[in-house]
Amino acid sequence: MINNAKEILEKYGQTHVLSAYERLADDKKEELLNQVLNIDFEKIAELYEKTKTKPTTGNDIIEPISYVDSNKLSEDERENYLSKGDEIIASGKYAVVMVAGGQGTRLGHNGPKGTFDMGLDSHKSLFELFCDKLKTAKDKYGVIIPWYIMTSKENNDDTVKFFEEHDYFGYKDGIKIFFKQGEFPMIDTNGKVIIGENGLIKEAADGHGGLFEAMVRNGVLADMQANGIEWIFSCAVDNPLAKLVDPLLVGYSAENNMKATSVSIVKNSAKERVGILCKRNAKPSVVEYTEITDEMAEAVDENNEFLYGEAHIMMNLFNIDVIEGIAKEKLPYHSAFKKCNYMNESGEMVIAEEPNAYKFETFIFDAFDRLESLGVLRYKREECFAPIKNAEGNDSPETARKLYKDYYNL
Ligand code: UTP
Repeated sequence: MINNAKEILEKYGQTHVLSAYERLADDKKEELLNQVLNIDFEKIAELYEKTKTKPTTGNDIIEPISYVDSNKLSEDERENYLSKGDEIIASGKYAVVMVAGGQGTRLGHNGPKGTFDMGLDSHKSLFELFCDKLKTAKDKYGVIIPWYIMTSKENNDDTVKFFEEHDYFGYKDGIKIFFKQGEFPMIDTNGKVIIGENGLIKEAADGHGGLFEAMVRNGVLADMQANGIEWIFSCAVDNPLAKLVDPLLVGYSAENNMKATSVSIVKNSAKERVGILCKRNAKPSVVEYTEITDEMAEAVDENNEFLYGEAHIMMNLFNIDVIEGIAKEKLPYHSAFKKCNYMNESGEMVIAEEPNAYKFETFIFDAFDRLESLGVLRYKREECFAPIKNAEGNDSPETARKLYKDYYNL
């Protein structure tokens, strides 16, 4: 086994992986060798090469996508969508899946992001705020809306423990399954895989796009099918204003036979660092702020509205029929440059003060081009978006707290 591993590591210039091998306990030695035999080093080499070039849209044909403004619906349309949505939710066909496997490196909170107290007077954690929304919906609809939570290998135990310690915030029957997403190795700026504290290759969650295959692999999809779920709402753990139960979104999608609908808000400036919903080669897609040209970012239509203005905010509704198809083939990886502590070749831990490593992530929205149709339903920013990304400044607990308090009149 070790000879096989050495051969692979030599082939891919990763021999540092075994530098601490002799110091490891027997079970860790085996684990490390298993990692080497199973990791796709060819893919790592390919992705490392890609980190050297700025992502662009290349030869892709990018066009604006059409959307419906939820605040400009006629009375009749609104009533119709709401009553359809209410009917679907009340008949137990609706579930929520939260992607909570991220590392939250920018926020720097010690623990899973969902356990974060954003500083409201109640000092409730994000998880508890979401529980409250689901409990309110339970009172309204008389059904328990199942809540599935995607974690990662890194934060799963802490997440589960947090819920146990708080007695599931009184929503135990609704919290169905914590399920772990996949992982992918992190590499340094020379393309070498990072060695973590335990002497093993450091693998990190493979991005929120890991959702679909994790749902299939962990039996989440099967559980939903067995329970008659038809519509699945997915959102991020770091947006306390996310509308977890929105009959308008559900009714709009069902009435228009959409296989999925993405909630959008208008970007607040030409260069806001958000992904923009668009059409790419005639298919629904998201163009990232790192990819889009200045000209496109600034382009406006005859009403002076951004042509590429519909920001994707990680609030998506999927019909259950599409999940299996999306999960069949791995979504593409994108690189993110992050801080990552590592073990050097002398076996000492080095604390990263600045970003030093590439993490490879798949994105939920890369699934859009696998769909026959995607609705885009626009909301006002203040109704549904208060992201907590950074410790200070933009998209921080301070800005989110203000938005949250304003919305709920606290
Ligand atoms: P972000 O992309 O903002 O990343 O996640 P993050 O990990 O929370 O924070 P940084 O970039 O390290 O500072 C958006 C949403 O996607 C989830 C996060 O938990 C958050 O809800 N996510 C992200 C996953 O579930 N898995 C991942 O691998 C990455």
